Amino acid sequence: MPQQPAPRPTDLVVFGGTGDLSMRKLLPSLYLLDRDGHLSGETRVIAVSRDGLTDADLRDKAASAVRGHSAVQVVEPDVLRRFRRRLSHVTVDVGGDPSGWADLAAALTPGRDRVFYLAVPPMISGAICRGLQDAGLVTPESRVVMEKPLGRDLASAQAVNDEVGAVFEESRTYRIDHYLGKETVQNLLVLRFANVFLEPLWNSRWIDHVQITAAETVGVGGRRGYYDSSGAMRDMVQNHLLQLLCLTAMEPPASYDRDAVRDEKLKVLQSLRPIPAAKVAEHTVRGQYTSGTVQGEDVLGYLDEAGGPPVSDTETFVALRAEVANWRWAGVPFYLRTGKRMERARSEIVIRFRDVPHTIFPGAAAASGAGSLVIRLQPDEGIHLTMLTKTPGAGALRLRPVPLELSFADTFATRSPEAYERLLMDVLAGDSTLFMRRDEVEAAWRWVDPIIEAWQGLGTAPETYPAGSSGPAGAQRLIGRTGNTWHEEEQA
Ligand code: BG6
Repeated sequence: MPQQPAPRPTDLVVFGGTGDLSMRKLLPSLYLLDRDGHLSGETRVIAVSRDGLTDADLRDKAASAVRGHSAVQVVEPDVLRRFRRRLSHVTVDVGGDPSGWADLAAALTPGRDRVFYLAVPPMISGAICRGLQDAGLVTPESRVVMEKPLGRDLASAQAVNDEVGAVFEESRTYRIDHYLGKETVQNLLVLRFANVFLEPLWNSRWIDHVQITAAETVGVGGRRGYYDSSGAMRDMVQNHLLQLLCLTAMEPPASYDRDAVRDEKLKVLQSLRPIPAAKVAEHTVRGQYTSGTVQGEDVLGYLDEAGGPPVSDTETFVALRAEVANWRWAGVPFYLRTGKRMERARSEIVIRFRDVPHTIFPGAAAASGAGSLVIRLQPDEGIHLTMLTKTPGAGALRLRPVPLELSFADTFATRSPEAYERLLMDVLAGDSTLFMRRDEVEAAWRWVDPIIEAWQGLGTAPETYPAGSSGPAGAQRLIGRTGNTWHEEEQA
């Protein structure tokens, strides 16, 4: 992948700068970028909120966040001291008292790059952008970073995009899907396009189906209020899972250039066969967790989590069968699955190859688990290629699927950077390859919206599943219709 240019002096302004995302992800990642020499000495981080903090308060809060959430065990005191000096706080009441904008203007340094990071709910993104423009803070080189959720359907996504787009050109708009910042997700492109042997097999002739899973053991916890108006389809499928599907299914781009890559992803989204309302019950499954035991700990059911209504049809699990209707993938099901409070946390892509066209080992060749490539995104990042192998021994020929394993941790001594480290570094360097373009986000909503509408039309409640299980029974039926099983079942 291209070399990053030297870091440029930047004023990074974080709206929602004292919020959860800032504390858990942004500040700890910025600390690590500082430690690893990826921030220019002059770069400053200006946290904006309505909290009225002093710079000293913010620096203390940030230091605890770095200690509590950093991806490395040891926080280096010298680096932390240097990092603290980069931080300041400005109080701005967006849509209220306008004096904060002047304070923000005073905190910015003329001539530096400006990055405005909107770690706020999408409905105030437009007001922030207008406030920045009215205060004369948007320079030609300014960039804006938008966090998800990017709308809750096509119409609201278009509205936010229009409002932000009235101030920032598309080429200066960075829409985060943090899955694209994960090392293993970027490695998917390298695996596919830097190794010659996969491409001839990467099509409907040799691939039977694809499974994409993002399973979490966590529940919705303190986010029930937000989550209840979202659900797994909007929270995970519309963005992370569809992006993984795009990277798996896209044609080779001409170069690793932001628009070449994003043009190919867009074509995949545009090729997704719509699931008609009459087929939604057959091709999709919604689930909601009830109380149960996750990794030895008793946990509440979704409806008992604080902060939401006692009755709710919001799904915490989705499984669906998608199809990419183009020459390469016609007839190959893409099974997508995501859920909270599942038995095990894991995100992976499984490519299941077809059986050989003719077997000379009758009775043995159909051994289950044969011929799959598993790209494990987290945890235990790695690649496993399962091959049928002869079990040693005399007597009848017996075949067994055996994985060839590439473990990132064992192969590379270095720590894999966190997704936000990578993405923040790219924003600071002005590289938007790993960010979603407006047309991609909108194409994803165009495919997802009718499914959500059909669910509402059906009026059925999600299937329940006990916390700590592998999801609702319907998910097994969904994939079972083609005689397949989800990947983990075979490992059991
Ligand atoms: C976020 C979702 O985008 O991704 C969360 O809003 C989810 O609900 C999270 O927990 C999962 O991210 P990761 O990196 O832990 O797989």
